[in-house]
Amino acid sequence: MEPNGGDTLVQPDPVAASEHELHRALGPTSLIMLGIGEIIGAGIFVIAGTAAADHAGPAVLLSFLIAGLGCLFAGLCYAEFAALIPESGSSYTYAYATMGRFMAWFIGWNMVLEYLVSASTVAVGWSGYFISLLNNIGLAFPAAFANAPLAGPGFAELHLTGAIVNLPAVVLVAALSIFLVIGVRESARFNNIMVLIKTGVVILVILFGLPYVSAANLTPLVPPNQGEWGKFGASGVLAASGLIYFAYIGFESVSVAAQEARNPRRDLPIGILGSLFICTVLYILMAIVLTGITDWRTLNVPNPVSFAVGKIPALRWLTIPVDIAALAGLATVTFVALYGQSRVFYAMARDGFLPKLFAAVHPTLKTPHRGTVVTGLVAAALAAIFPLDILADLVSIGTLLAFIIVCTGIMILRVTAPKAQRVFRTPFVWFVAPAGIASCGLMMFSLSTATWYRLVLWTIAGIAIYVLYGRRHAEPSKWKVG
Ligand code: ALA
Repeated sequence: MEPNGGDTLVQPDPVAASEHELHRALGPTSLIMLGIGEIIGAGIFVIAGTAAADHAGPAVLLSFLIAGLGCLFAGLCYAEFAALIPESGSSYTYAYATMGRFMAWFIGWNMVLEYLVSASTVAVGWSGYFISLLNNIGLAFPAAFANAPLAGPGFAELHLTGAIVNLPAVVLVAALSIFLVIGVRESARFNNIMVLIKTGVVILVILFGLPYVSAANLTPLVPPNQGEWGKFGASGVLAASGLIYFAYIGFESVSVAAQEARNPRRDLPIGILGSLFICTVLYILMAIVLTGITDWRTLNVPNPVSFAVGKIPALRWLTIPVDIAALAGLATVTFVALYGQSRVFYAMARDGFLPKLFAAVHPTLKTPHRGTVVTGLVAAALAAIFPLDILADLVSIGTLLAFIIVCTGIMILRVTAPKAQRVFRTPFVWFVAPAGIASCGLMMFSLSTATWYRLVLWTIAGIAIYVLYGRRHAEPSKWKVG
């Protein structure tokens, strides 16, 4: 490895690093595909409908713009960090390099929400689509084996539903984990095919849907507020952008591929910003089509995209491809989330925060096989028993916190390591980073009190593990700053 060029930022010892080396197989296209793989999923295929019908009407396209802008601020900060510190730990490693051991653990622990819990969440969404597709082709699947045995608005109010296990979600997580153990090149190939399917269908819906967009459906663009915060009007647009934020989560996961990228310093920023840009354009066009071809008031359904195209007789042929694309889309989101978690665990174990088994790399497959299996087992267990809403809120709060820490860290590093050679520099950093913190902070505060309680519980558990294990075993950051 080459020195990174700066006189204040030093790379880890290359000999120590080589013992656990991953396979560098990913170029810029695969990295963009990896980002799109994690981005396009439940957000556009499910949540966009609810956001339009309950909060913003056709102005949901403004919500897509607002959430996209917040993610762009964070994305620009991620891009600078990823090029400067190309390590698979992503925001965990960035926090370690800039804010010390405890903050590193704190953010790494929250990234379990961002990746592992998100894999479980989207697997549960996938299971819902799978069951509805089976029903549509006349096949029945026993409900007791396709639903969460637990439900309730919060952990305190959890109750048994009578279901036994969400089996399709478990099978999906197990299958994707096996792919990940087999190898990153093979996995990336599989991911690319799935991404092409879902992106292709999104483009088809846009191309065939645009001619049917009617001005009547889009007027008024911002329906008047109904007297309650978040119910249409300007506050509705804001509330919808908080929901829509979920649709963008994933561009940052390109940064966890740092040690599998062929030329990480150049290609990671391309992957992060390229995937974010492509998805923002597709989302805005999709929002116009969704609310323009049908009455937005009818969109609060589990499958709003296929529902909307099904309303236009000439577009009915698109409903089955859309359902298949949603299945492919949700599968790739689950896949990249599992991938991301195993790489974050890998980085944390290398630093001593977690047992070394998470850093073990298979001698021939060159993947962190043990960590991947443990990640898969825990994600499958969560997907087996919890419903989507409880899991999804945890994902959002954990991810927003990670974004805030990254935006903070980039400013710290500009002060502590001003001369480090930056292949990519966040433009207008003293505006972009605070704007990222403010927008992510606003979205965090729009989440429910119950979610905040869960975050507190999660943090207490994390601190306990840190005190009992991490503090004793963690080595100083390999990325010395200052
Ligand atoms: N952005 C991802 C999705 O929409 C998490 O499913």
